[in-house]
Amino acid sequence: MTEKNVKVSIRHLYKIFGANPPAALEKVKAGMSKTDLLDQTGHVLGLQDINVDMKEGEITVIMGLSGSGKSTLIRHLNRLIEPTAGEVLVNGEDILSWNDSQMRTLRREKMSMVFQKFALLPHRTVLENAGMALATRGKKRAEFEGEARKWLERVGLEGQDDQYPHQLSGGMQQRVGIARALASNSDIMLMDEAFSALDPLIRTDMQDLLLELQEELHKTIIFITHDLDEALKLADHLVILKDGAVVQQGEPQKILLNPADPYIEDFVADINRARVLRVRSIMTEAAPAGEIAGDVDPADNLESVIARAGGAMDRAYRVVRNGETLGYVDLAEIMRALVPRETGAAA
Ligand SMILES: Nc1ncnc2c1ncn2[C@@H]1O[C@H](COP(=O)(O)OP(=O)(O)O)[C@@H](O)[C@H]1O
Ligand SMILES: [Mg+2]
Repeated sequence: MTEKNVKVSIRHLYKIFGANPPAALEKVKAGMSKTDLLDQTGHVLGLQDINVDMKEGEITVIMGLSGSGKSTLIRHLNRLIEPTAGEVLVNGEDILSWNDSQMRTLRREKMSMVFQKFALLPHRTVLENAGMALATRGKKRAEFEGEARKWLERVGLEGQDDQYPHQLSGGMQQRVGIARALASNSDIMLMDEAFSALDPLIRTDMQDLLLELQEELHKTIIFITHDLDEALKLADHLVILKDGAVVQQGEPQKILLNPADPYIEDFVADINRARVLRVRSIMTEAAPAGEIAGDVDPADNLESVIARAGGAMDRAYRVVRNGETLGYVDLAEIMRALVPRETGAAA
């Protein structure tokens, strides 16, 4: 596999809210906690030494409880918030040094946003909403119509062009939000709790739609959620925030198998591991001694392999993709992976 380019990079980013952020920053750097900073100085520690690389064509999910700093973080990417310290690089360029006109171009053409509350214009039709980014760039309706309609169809809203937002359900409104982001043709999509306001079944549909679109479009997506199931489903790279700091980041499957601290352990304790963990994450290179019962795909989840073994505990499978043997799994290994490992316990 080739290593992907870093599209957006955050370096040593701090954000402190209050009257004198630089003075508060000194205290934080000297080790003062978020709680103490608030109690003793009245400043809110929003973000603390954040370092994240967001790769081109991947979905980076920022996850954390309410108040952990997710929105503060994503708003630094288009400078709706200015940092107290640190760097934000887009395509290797430090956007903190950019002037207003450069920032306007970035916001209009290189990044699109999908919001939790959809943020559609109520007195514009679905088609006009979908074409909004293009209209902002000075295109006339006749020029953006085709593009807007194409994306509306792509998100399943064929024939809804002349409706107004209030005539649509929440799920359909968010489809317009996604069509609007896609019609802008930007490579970076910022999604802040974009599916959090939707009913569970609709939400699942929207996650599936996003993954399906991503399969062909390869956008750089920064997706924010407080929902672990959603994070595990969508993330190529998962960043877990707590009190404004990154507690752990990496491939979601690796985080599940190797939680870095008790906080993450608690977080992942209730996950259906058989459904979420994939064969590729636990396979071994060495072939088992016994007989091979068959072939499985690296993307198969553990549940499907257990079902296939039909209760037999002594089965082993070869992991194959495109005719190439990638490794092996056996049922004993699968059973071990189903039991959460405690931090510090031997692997
Ligand atoms: N403008 C602000 N002034 C003061 N505190 C703020 C401001 N914006 C956010 N905060 C604080 O920063 C922390 C992170 O907030 P936020 O990024 O909105 O969290 P999340 O999106 O994860 O729910 C919270 O403690 C919040 O109260
Ligand atoms: Mg938020």
